[in-house]
Amino acid sequence: MCGIVGYTGCCQAAPILLEGLTRLEYRGYDSAGIAVRDEGAPRIEVVKAKGRLKNLMEMTDSGRAVRGCCGVGHTRWATHGEPSTVNAHPHDSKDKRVVLVHNGIIENHQEIREALQRKGYVFKSQTDTEAACLLLDSYYAESMGGDLSPRERALDAIHRLMIRVRGSYALGILFGDQPGVLYAARKDSPLIVGCCSEEMHGHMIASDVPAVLGFTRNVVYIGNDEIACLTRDERHIYNIDCEEIEKPVTEIQWDAAAAEKDGYEHFMMKEIHEQPRAVRDTLSPRIKEEEEKRFIDLSETGLTDEDLAGISRVYMVGCGSAYHAACVGRVVLEQLAHVPCEVDLASEFRYRDPILEERGLVIFISQSGETADTLAALRLCRECGVRTLAVVNVVGSSIAREADAVMYTWAGPEISVATTKAYSTQLCALYLIAVKLASARGQIDEARQAQLIEDMLALPDKIERVLSDKERVQWFANKMAACKDVFFIGRGLDYAISLEGSLKLKEISYIHSEAYAAGELKHGTISLIEDGVLVVGVATQPALFEKVVSNMTEARSRGAYLFGLTTYGQYAIEDTVNFTVYVPRTDPLFATSLAVVPLQLLAYYISCAKGLDVDKPRNLAKSVTVE
Ligand code: AGP
Repeated sequence: MCGIVGYTGCCQAAPILLEGLTRLEYRGYDSAGIAVRDEGAPRIEVVKAKGRLKNLMEMTDSGRAVRGCCGVGHTRWATHGEPSTVNAHPHDSKDKRVVLVHNGIIENHQEIREALQRKGYVFKSQTDTEAACLLLDSYYAESMGGDLSPRERALDAIHRLMIRVRGSYALGILFGDQPGVLYAARKDSPLIVGCCSEEMHGHMIASDVPAVLGFTRNVVYIGNDEIACLTRDERHIYNIDCEEIEKPVTEIQWDAAAAEKDGYEHFMMKEIHEQPRAVRDTLSPRIKEEEEKRFIDLSETGLTDEDLAGISRVYMVGCGSAYHAACVGRVVLEQLAHVPCEVDLASEFRYRDPILEERGLVIFISQSGETADTLAALRLCRECGVRTLAVVNVVGSSIAREADAVMYTWAGPEISVATTKAYSTQLCALYLIAVKLASARGQIDEARQAQLIEDMLALPDKIERVLSDKERVQWFANKMAACKDVFFIGRGLDYAISLEGSLKLKEISYIHSEAYAAGELKHGTISLIEDGVLVVGVATQPALFEKVVSNMTEARSRGAYLFGLTTYGQYAIEDTVNFTVYVPRTDPLFATSLAVVPLQLLAYYISCAKGLDVDKPRNLAKSVTVE
């Protein structure tokens, strides 16, 4: 989604803004712009361009043509109004008295627009953001001529804006008569302040950490309903009542290199290869050993064995791949812990008036920790008083902060829009919860627990093994790159992984694909199978192997071309399918962690073969902060 960068300090701002925006490109956008204030100039300069950042770079000679040491920049992912230069941010009021960039959605923009038009304001764009910009301008104008200092006037106007608008926002604001001062405010859309190193001397704002990492690792997380006022030398944070508050500076532990491609052609491939490390980092700190016995320690969640034993029902909520991880989690949890578990898409959960048991636990799964629907579902549960646990990757994100407890997945920064390593670590977090719950409730004995832990700890090496065979998948992907329809089928956990395999393929290769519970094919979908349609059959579950293979046979009889994905030893599949990939054996409950890798590779290589933008697929955003 949209990205915000701002800087005020002793260096030229435009190149810093462009560099920061480049680091946010992965979030997805369709236009970009910067606004910079040169102290000697009469007003703020705004430059905007439709399309990729390189257009803006060309227009500004990589920022060199726009002089000044204070500015804001933005990449826009269109919501209200088409992608165009005029709809791109920054937006500005007459004479650039107020210039503003915005992430999020102003829900009551229409009503604000009409009220301002009645006062004589003229709108240039179709965006909701311009309504916020001009409203701020009107409040700022009203306080002219009084005895407030410029900062007090700005804070008062921002405060009034925050009270008047409904929706979510992160704002970066410049006032034409306050050179060198950068303001920011947020509600339900992430925003950080970067405290720059000595040589850059100054402050930054950004909607995400990678934007500032080239300049500093010291950040302040701006909370909901908070305002920042920044200059080269000063940093002040206020609450919505404009009272100054103290905020801690946090040092980001990962560095800019973690957000670089590291020799890989795409972030997605790099992140696929980071899975053994990410899985290990997520599992190992939670597996402890005492007197030669291994056990799972989830004390970070504050959930005691007693709490766990008392849970009557588990609910798992997420969007996209996080939802698919939940689908896997449900099967593992119900089988091991014998606790009923419901899985919901966050966007559906909110509106179905869920009946939540008092002794229930709701697990929210999210890579970014900022997904609007997941966050709203979390807030709903908090209002109902049910216990909430977040499984989140981005440290300090909204979902992590607002849930009763958080369990971080240590995937590290994930840049590619198509999630890979974050999904894999979500699976591990859910395995840990399931095994812990099973043991706390006496559903598994020590020997079974020890075996499950051993199998989990062996996953990173086994993922490595699957990766070592990637050329085989590449060969097949090149052969199939022209196909038009793909069906992924499986049963039980293999159906859950089919959902993820299908999403991976469609989001980055733009090939139509569907995932079906294999037994459902003959209830309608099989009519779509004809000569040459690719069917990917996942058959890692020994108990269901024969049934899936027989469903694949039915598809082959109608002309389907078959890709079989199973575990070493299940060689009988070769009698049925055209192409097979084997993954190492593990406890069947954890097979998903291995089976997902060839499916990620298949999607990746097909996307490459079609010459598509693997890391930034069309119309998609990394972090979906709108409903
Ligand atoms: C999958 O590759 C996606 N990009 C998408 O489905 C993603 O999983 C979903 O938007 C949820 O995001 P989150 O994990 O950040 O909440």
